[in-house]
Amino acid sequence: MDVTVAADRAALGKARDALGAGRIALVPTMGALHEGHRSLVRLAREHADHVVVSVFVNPLQFGPHEDFSRYPRTFDADLRVCEEEGVSVVFAPSAEDMYLPDRQVEVSAGGMGGTAEGAFRPGHFDGVLTVVLKLFNLVRPDVAVFGQKDAQQLALIRRMTADLDVPVSIVAAPTVREPDGLALSSRNRYLSEADRRTALALSRALSAGAARAQAGPAGVLDAAKAVLEEAARFAPPLLLDYLILADPATFAPVGGDHRGEAVLAVAAKVGATRLIDNMVLTL
Ligand code: PAJ
Repeated sequence: MDVTVAADRAALGKARDALGAGRIALVPTMGALHEGHRSLVRLAREHADHVVVSVFVNPLQFGPHEDFSRYPRTFDADLRVCEEEGVSVVFAPSAEDMYLPDRQVEVSAGGMGGTAEGAFRPGHFDGVLTVVLKLFNLVRPDVAVFGQKDAQQLALIRRMTADLDVPVSIVAAPTVREPDGLALSSRNRYLSEADRRTALALSRALSAGAARAQAGPAGVLDAAKAVLEEAARFAPPLLLDYLILADPATFAPVGGDHRGEAVLAVAAKVGATRLIDNMVLTL
């Protein structure tokens, strides 16, 4: 069956009603779809009868000096991907359709939205949670799929559904990587060949940290840091924003003699591109 494109909320309402009974899975995206997004759609299909993909570059989650205007927009290719993956509806609203001109109320990510990624991107997670809650209310899915690639986003969406009694089950999808380890990202297309070589230090640092899981938090962080420091001397250099070892559910840093699960998360700039990655470890 062909995919239905809904360009505004009225069309989405009609398309959703036309799906009839059956479970609905939502995969929220900002487009520029790659293998990572495809894997989310495939997982969504295992959990529902119909998959709705939203394609919306959400202005609310970009800071004033971030890459909103140059974020890749490849809608025709995205549509082909959705067709190939058996998506029922693509919801691709305009910013004007999504946000009322006199809007006031937003979701607050709380203290958890101000740590790690949130410390470098003030307001980012408020914008993410606001659009995700709106998408949930518009699409009314039974289940929604999010990537582990954005570990703090995933943790905050879980927190939001628990704290605000949102009746949507959250499913996490593993991070899809290139054969050399680089996590797929819509922003990878900005990387030159030299940038890309430097960018590989992110996943290498995480693997080095993971290999030292038995040594405890300090050992993990030291091993990852050594790889990142070496890459700071590459051309172009890796410019580290943060490296943290945190509780995967709260993103509070773990240290000392912590045992059990922890997420090792990193963010860095390479050239003009900012990249994030993470791995979940068992210490
Ligand atoms: P976007 O960056 O387009 O990502 C959409 C979904 O794809 C997210 O759940 C993200 O974690 C997942 N994803 C990205 N790269 C992945 C990879 N290499 N492997 C597995 N999953 C991957 O995240 C957003 O958009 C936005 O913040 C959004 C949730 C849509 C709200 O605007």
